[in-house]
Amino acid sequence: MNNSILLERLKWRMIEWESGCPQRIQHFLKVASFAVTIARGEGADEHTLFLAEAAGYIHDIGIRISYDRDGRSDGKSQECYGEPAAKEMLAEIGFAPDDAETVSRYVGKHHSYDAEIPDLVFRILLEADACVNMFEHAGVSDGARLEMLRNVFRTETGKKLYTTMFGLSV
Ligand SMILES: [Fe+2]
Repeated sequence: MNNSILLERLKWRMIEWESGCPQRIQHFLKVASFAVTIARGEGADEHTLFLAEAAGYIHDIGIRISYDRDGRSDGKSQECYGEPAAKEMLAEIGFAPDDAETVSRYVGKHHSYDAEIPDLVFRILLEADACVNMFEHAGVSDGARLEMLRNVFRTETGKKLYTTMFGLSV
């Protein structure tokens, strides 16, 4: 099965997964789109692009499980519940076992911000998620946005996207 069919299937599975929560659907659609933009800007190969877009769609799969099981959701429980759920969904859709493993590992650590990890897909996911989160969270100051820039952003494309979007001068 080709990658664009897999991605389309994943997008729809996640839209169905988040049925009734348009905020989270719009969140992951934006994260996936920014992930592709950053990956293309960094000259990523086709496989990296594929993994980055897939990670964008599925990265927050653990939120709904956390609310269902614990009545609340924090970064750690999202990672914990999200990783096995992601692996299962990706395998069902038809992702190759290695790709399902790789993408679900990102789901399992995407709140553990470590932008120094030399893994381009993971870095792209963190940057794309930060671009969206810093818009969706109300009342974020320019100071907090600049701190996020320093802590998370490492790719030139991610930095350009983020600073341009928020009109930040550095
Ligand atoms: Fe997210």
